[in-house]
Amino acid sequence: MPKPKVLATRPLFPAARTILDASCDVEYFPSAESASRQNLLRRLKDKEGLVCLLTDAVNEELLRNAPKLRIVSNVAVGFDNIDVAACTKRAVVATNTPGVLDETTADFAWTLMMAVARRLSEGEALARSGKWTGWDLDQLVGTDVWGKTLGIVGFGRIGRAMARRASGFQMKVIYHDAVRVAEEVEQELKAEFRDFNSLLSESDFVSVHVPLTPETRGMFSGPKFFRMKPTAILINTSRGPVVDENGLVAALEAGKIAGAGLDVYENEPFIFPGLKRANVVLAPHIASATVETRTKMACIAAENVTALFRGQWPPNMLNAEVLKDK
Ligand code: DGY
Repeated sequence: MPKPKVLATRPLFPAARTILDASCDVEYFPSAESASRQNLLRRLKDKEGLVCLLTDAVNEELLRNAPKLRIVSNVAVGFDNIDVAACTKRAVVATNTPGVLDETTADFAWTLMMAVARRLSEGEALARSGKWTGWDLDQLVGTDVWGKTLGIVGFGRIGRAMARRASGFQMKVIYHDAVRVAEEVEQELKAEFRDFNSLLSESDFVSVHVPLTPETRGMFSGPKFFRMKPTAILINTSRGPVVDENGLVAALEAGKIAGAGLDVYENEPFIFPGLKRANVVLAPHIASATVETRTKMACIAAENVTALFRGQWPPNMLNAEVLKDK
């Protein structure tokens, strides 16, 4: 029997290729350049499976061009690039890669938090510039992280991984989520629930870990920044459009907050020029970018595809209803 034809919009990692190649006939795009929209739509015509990245929009247009498609496997936990309802309408299974990137992403949110608080980018630039004249008492003084209040917005797996790290820094942890978590979880993580506005006004650091949904889009807008402490630092490793960048820049310019650490942006890869300032640390959407984690993400994406073609339910389905009656 011929193997099902699958398209992967990147070469993936060898471990993931081994999984996919064992049961599928896979075409791998060798690079980002080859994954142009036009090429993607053209090469999808005879494919039953697609392994894609969060930069690939899986929408009506793509689905129309892929009449044989049975599964879209996103190599990411966030899936705002996928129109899940449109997939469901066409009986295409959509999957993501939850669970393997939580600790790595929390590590990176922490990296940004420390970097902004301790002015690492400015310090590094000075150290490399040849202009450093030596130790000085008030040189690049930042702000302490330890002992402060960390406000976590979105208390899912990544938010909770943030909370666990905070105890080593003797921080007070408060959180906000659409749904308050069980008391045992709050106790275990020593985290107290707050409504969104109270969290903003009490926190020294606010770290964002919500998915992008109609409810969270623009959740951090102008008036919200005005509720924060003028010394507060905002960290976003979730999705760019959760934060209104115009509002953020205005708040930074007016001194309504003290700084920000950003890994994600409203219109990636464009970075709003107003964000390129000394008190903002910018990263290019790399919070999950370790060899270990990205390999695991690619393997899970591969396993989601091979499970379906073996006649099993893919482990990480976003629209299980597609297979319910099968
Ligand atoms: C995800 O998985 O959604 C991340 O943004 C990519 O690391």
